[in-house]
Amino acid sequence: MNYILSIDQGTTGTRACLIDATSFSMLGQVSREYPQIYPKPSWVEHNLNDIWSTVEVTIKELLKNHNIQGQMIKAIGITNQRETTCAFDKKGTPLANAIVWQDRRTADFCQELRDKNLSEKIKEKTGLPIDPYFSATKMNWLLKNNSAVSGANASGNLLFGTVDTFLLYKLSGNVSHKTDASNASRTMLMDLKTCDWDKELLEIFSVKRETLPSIEDSFGEFGVTKGLGFLPDGIPVTGILGDQQSALFGQAGFHKGDMKCTYGTGAFVLLNTGSDLVYSQSGLLTTVEYRHKGKAVYALEGSSYIAGAAVQWLRDNLKIISKSTEVEPLAREVKNMDELKHIQFFPFFAGIGSPYWNAEAKGALTGLTRDSSRSHIAYACLEGIAMSINDLLSAMKKDTGLAIKTLKVDGGAAANSLLMELQATISETTIIRPKVIETTAFGAAMAAAIGAGLTDFEKLETTWKKDREFPIEQDLLPYIKDKKVLWNKTIQTFFK
Ligand code: G3P
Repeated sequence: MNYILSIDQGTTGTRACLIDATSFSMLGQVSREYPQIYPKPSWVEHNLNDIWSTVEVTIKELLKNHNIQGQMIKAIGITNQRETTCAFDKKGTPLANAIVWQDRRTADFCQELRDKNLSEKIKEKTGLPIDPYFSATKMNWLLKNNSAVSGANASGNLLFGTVDTFLLYKLSGNVSHKTDASNASRTMLMDLKTCDWDKELLEIFSVKRETLPSIEDSFGEFGVTKGLGFLPDGIPVTGILGDQQSALFGQAGFHKGDMKCTYGTGAFVLLNTGSDLVYSQSGLLTTVEYRHKGKAVYALEGSSYIAGAAVQWLRDNLKIISKSTEVEPLAREVKNMDELKHIQFFPFFAGIGSPYWNAEAKGALTGLTRDSSRSHIAYACLEGIAMSINDLLSAMKKDTGLAIKTLKVDGGAAANSLLMELQATISETTIIRPKVIETTAFGAAMAAAIGAGLTDFEKLETTWKKDREFPIEQDLLPYIKDKKVLWNKTIQTFFK
C-alpha cells in the first residue's frame, strides 16, 4: 500500500491525516491542541516548538495506529493557518513566538500606513486592505521590537516565513526555505500579478528579500524529509496550500465560480475567480487559490475571524458547556423564538475582518433579560456566527452579481446541523455538506498527490461526495428577517 501524509497545522491544533494514495480515501487522523499565548489583550502568540512537537507526536501516533512504515508514505502535503508569522534562524531554532493572524498589536502602525495614503497602492499590488491580519506588519513589529530577530537580521541569520515555511524547513532538515503562492499572497508583500516579492513593499516594511522564502507553485517538489527520526529520509513534500485555499481545493473547487465556506476557528468564504483578478468594492480580499505550472488561479475571499472560536469561548471562558458539541443540543432547548427576539451575539473578539475591517471592534452580547438562560446564549452564539458569515456572502453577491443559490461547507463546526440550518435560512441559500468535512487536510493531500504525479484534477473531482443538504427553513424566515434588521442596525451604529 502507498499513502499520502497530510499535515494540517491550524490555529488551535495540528492534525496528521493518512490518505490512501490510490483511492484517495481518508484512512485515519490524529490531532492535538496546543497552548494559545495571550501576553496582552488582543495579542495572540504561538510557541513554534509547541507547534513542531504536535507535528511530531501526531505523525508518530498516526503511523503507530495504522501500523505503517514511513517508507510507505509517497508524498507529504502541508496546509496551515495563514498569515501567522514565524522568525527562526538557519538552524531552525525559533527566535520569537509566532505572531498569530488574530493578533492586533500592529493596529496603530496600520493606521500610520493608511494616513500615508498607501491603502490604494497596497490593495492594487496585493489585493489586501491594510490590516494587522496580514504578515507584513507583524514582521516589521518583530524587527523593531525583538532583539533576537533584529540581531539575526543584521548578521544574516534570520529566516521569516508563514507556518508552512517553518514546517517545511524543519521537515527538510533545515534545507528548504520555501513557500507556495497561496501562502505568500497573505503576507502583504507579494505582487499578485507576478507572484513575486514586491521591492517597494519590502522597503515599506523594512523586510530583506533574503530573509523570505522563495515562492513556488503549490504542487511540486518542495524538498525531502531529512534527519527526523520519526520519518525516514527522502519522503518528498509535494503540496503546500494555505488552509482556506486547501479547503476550497479539497471541495474540488478547481473551476471558476466554485465556492465554499469553512467553519474553523474563524470562517472563510472563498470563490474561485480563475485567472481573473477580481478587486472587491465591498470589503473582500483578493488572493491566490493555488499556482500550477507557473499560472495563478485567484480567489475572492471573505474572512470572519471568529466562528468555532466563539463556541470555544462559551466552553473555556463562560463554561456554560464542557464540550463544543454540547452547544447544539443546548441551543435546541430554546422552543419559543420570541424569547430570542432581542438577544444578539456579535462574535467580534478579534475585531472585524471582511467586510468592515474594524481592528478595534470587540465582541458583544446584547438584549439580555432576567429570564435569559444558557440555551439562549448558545442559540444567539450560533446565530451570530451565521449572521457574520452572511455579511461575507452579501458582500460576495454585491461584488460579483452572483445569486449564490448553494454553498458548500466544511470544517469542524460544519458538523453542527443547527448552525447549518441557521446559515441556510439567514443567507437564503441551500447549504451542501460533504461526507468529508475535513476538506482542509484532504485538500493538502490532493495537492501533494498532484505534485507527486499520483493523480490529476479529473480523477480528484470524482472523490467529492455529498453528505446532506440544508434547505431554507420557511417557518423560521419571519423570525430571521426581523433579526437581520436588528443585526444590520446594530452593526451600522456600533461596529462600522
Ligand atoms: O487566515 C487564518 C486562517 O488561515 C485560520 O484558519 O482554520 O486555523 O481557523 P483556522
